[in-house]
Amino acid sequence: MRGVAVRLGACMIALALPPQGAWAQQASGASLNEQQLLGMRLFNQSCRVCHTKPQMTSPLYGPELSQNSLGGQEAVMREVISNGTPRMPGFKYHFEPAQIEAIVAYLKTIPTPPAPASSAR
Ligand code: HEC
Repeated sequence: MRGVAVRLGACMIALALPPQGAWAQQASGASLNEQQLLGMRLFNQSCRVCHTKPQMTSPLYGPELSQNSLGGQEAVMREVISNGTPRMPGFKYHFEPAQIEAIVAYLKTIPTPPAPASSAR
């Protein structure tokens, strides 16, 4: 009897997984172009530290980013990345404009995360 329940549980987990798997695949750069790949590398180096889940215990953590961050407006993304906000450092002296452009291009490839993640705050 118990065995059945366990197997049922495992089955439900498996059913819940595919969307996550698809997201991870996309985020790992399966089908990104050169510019987006560059953006992903820069993001992994300079942004991940504040913008991915495990850091959400830190007061400096940023929201999970996606193509819809800041209303999906690329100009606003460039502005925030360049100049920062009161809680986020700006990167205009750290990156060339083309690098910031690449990061924005990469952000535009990240699907909107599932709702619970963004309402965690
Ligand atoms: C020191 C931690 C830190 C780093 C490093 C950092 N951010 Fe942020 N970021 C934040 C915080 C905190 C916010 C929320 C800003 C606020 O509420 O004022 C934010 C907000 C943002 C937003 C706006 C999101 C929204 O929906 O409001 C974007 C876009 C963004 N960051 C992109 C980046 C990019 C791209 C990088 C790397 C080049 C980066 N961040 C590096 C902490 C960081």
